[in-house]
Amino acid sequence: MRPWFPSAFRALAALSALSAVDGYFYHFQVECRYSSEDLKDVEYIERRIFNKLQDMMYNSTLNKYFGYSENGVYNADIWNKDESALAGAHSNLDGYCKPNAELYFKNILYHTVEPTVKVKTVKASSERHTTKLQCSAYDFYPEGIKLKWLRNGQEVKDGVTATEELYDGDWYHQIHSYLEFTPQSGETIECQVEHSSLKQPKTYKWDPSVPEGTRNKVIIGTSGLVLGLVLSIAGFVYYKKKSTGRILVPSS
Ligand SMILES: *[C@@H]1O[C@H](CO)[C@@H](O)[C@H](O)[C@H]1NC(C)=O
Repeated sequence: MRPWFPSAFRALAALSALSAVDGYFYHFQVECRYSSEDLKDVEYIERRIFNKLQDMMYNSTLNKYFGYSENGVYNADIWNKDESALAGAHSNLDGYCKPNAELYFKNILYHTVEPTVKVKTVKASSERHTTKLQCSAYDFYPEGIKLKWLRNGQEVKDGVTATEELYDGDWYHQIHSYLEFTPQSGETIECQVEHSSLKQPKTYKWDPSVPEGTRNKVIIGTSGLVLGLVLSIAGFVYYKKKSTGRILVPSS
């Protein structure tokens, strides 16, 4: 009996038809195995498995089929004598494994996404220091990030705490680092980020002016005050005009 499928692609196409058979399962598996990124030792392996038992395997390194059952040995023997079958299987190494490896390396292995970093003031929780800062790095890929606090360019270790790298559940991660300290005038505080998406560490300066939340409240409050003043002045002017008019009318 001759095996059905001389090449990986025809086999995959036929597979769905076979799996519709109730109770028996034929499984055709193609593997591209790489142990180094230069693809020097990439290996193409085909496995034919029936009801969980491997019947036959092709190994591109030896360019040979191997049988694991009476039927498998019989078929492997036939295929190993068939130059075009061997060449067909072997062609998947350059035609399938290598181009795909390059795509996977580029899009998964070397793929990086730079974090969005925010430095802000949060409520201080200790008695010892007046100020607590939070440096958050969001949506970076892959895992493996380092956050540092710099005071006038020098790393600060005292008063620093951080969360673990938290997995967002969508390939991305986030992390938060905190610094508790007592600010001095004229100093610069920065959060420094090291990540594979960045060629060199990137620093983010803390803006010690009023934090955004408070600033918004101040803007809204001031706008309200200005609006109130404008309305009262207009009202006052209107009142003055009207009352002078009234005085003028009876005296004429
Ligand atoms: C394929 O053959 C090579 C050479 O003998 C061997 O090193 C390798 O482990 C084999 N691969 C598999 C998956 O058995």
